[in-house]
Amino acid sequence: MKVEDYAKLIREGQIVAFPTETVYGLGADVWNEAAIAEVFKRKGRPSDNPLIVHISDIESLEDLASEIPDIAYRLAKAFWPGPLTLVLNKQDQVPDIVTAGLGTVAIRMPDHPMALKLIANSGPLVAPSANLSGKPSPTAADHVKEDFGDAIAILEGGPTRVGIESTVLDLSGEKPIILRPGAIGPEEIEKQTGIKVDYSSINTDGGPSPKSPGLKYAHYKPNARVRYGKVNTIESDTLYLLQEDGSDYPNVIRYNGDLNALSQELYGRFREADQKKFGVVHIAPIEAFRSAYPTIYQALKNRIVKAVDH
Ligand code: TXA
Ligand code: MG
Repeated sequence: MKVEDYAKLIREGQIVAFPTETVYGLGADVWNEAAIAEVFKRKGRPSDNPLIVHISDIESLEDLASEIPDIAYRLAKAFWPGPLTLVLNKQDQVPDIVTAGLGTVAIRMPDHPMALKLIANSGPLVAPSANLSGKPSPTAADHVKEDFGDAIAILEGGPTRVGIESTVLDLSGEKPIILRPGAIGPEEIEKQTGIKVDYSSINTDGGPSPKSPGLKYAHYKPNARVRYGKVNTIESDTLYLLQEDGSDYPNVIRYNGDLNALSQELYGRFREADQKKFGVVHIAPIEAFRSAYPTIYQALKNRIVKAVDH
């Protein structure tokens, strides 16, 4: 099937999984409430957790958001297509099921040629990550199949480049605030636009958030227990994600401080650990690489903290 055929399925009210630069999304027509209800149902997603609308051209912003501030256009120009989601006041016509009844809507333009072509042919798509609720987000088409079998059409586009979900930046309040850290952070935003943004202190530690309902749910967890900290001995029932060079073991993966590589592979390693029946995934500390990768450090740390057993 061609991309246009998948777009046709969407226009007919079906759900289609598709690749983005961050993770695979489970797409449905933003104007089709029945299709969107089906997305919630298939994922087992709580109905108070709003969805991100994916667009392929800036003009679509005006159909979805109202009172769009100038800074939204500046950010869109600088970072779209890319892993930055903007939360804006919504247009009345955006269905409540999309925004879980909030007065705001989250919007992004994904940086993936197949996603852009799909959306250009289908119109704006809601797309949560294409995993069952509570499972790690899918970074390959096989992960989507693992969770949904053959029940959902999948537009296959290889492994995803970033590997963790987009930055969610709230522009609906007095100051721009990052609700979910991702691959675009305050450093890049200030450098390219001069705009200063902060991380929400509530969310970066993985705690609950009244503003971004999704963040209060347990997330990104494999069945294996996730540990974070110094490694002393190598145990056979544990998959190790280590930062430094050293000897080879069958169940040790070394990232040598490359936090981009760790972020790209993290969710895939969680799934691999479950498939290979490891009881534990042990991630060695990433703090030493914080200054080299300030943004991706924040994003990764957020995902790791959420996955660790408390
Ligand atoms: O990278 C991504 O963003 C991926 C790909 C597929 O684009 N999508 C994704 O969607 O991660 P999802 O549904 O798994 O996460 C959406 C996050 C949730 O934390 C949700 O609460 C938040 O965005 N969100 C959506 N609408 C919001 C709104 N109006 N205000 C605040 N947070 C919102
Ligand atoms: Mg998700």
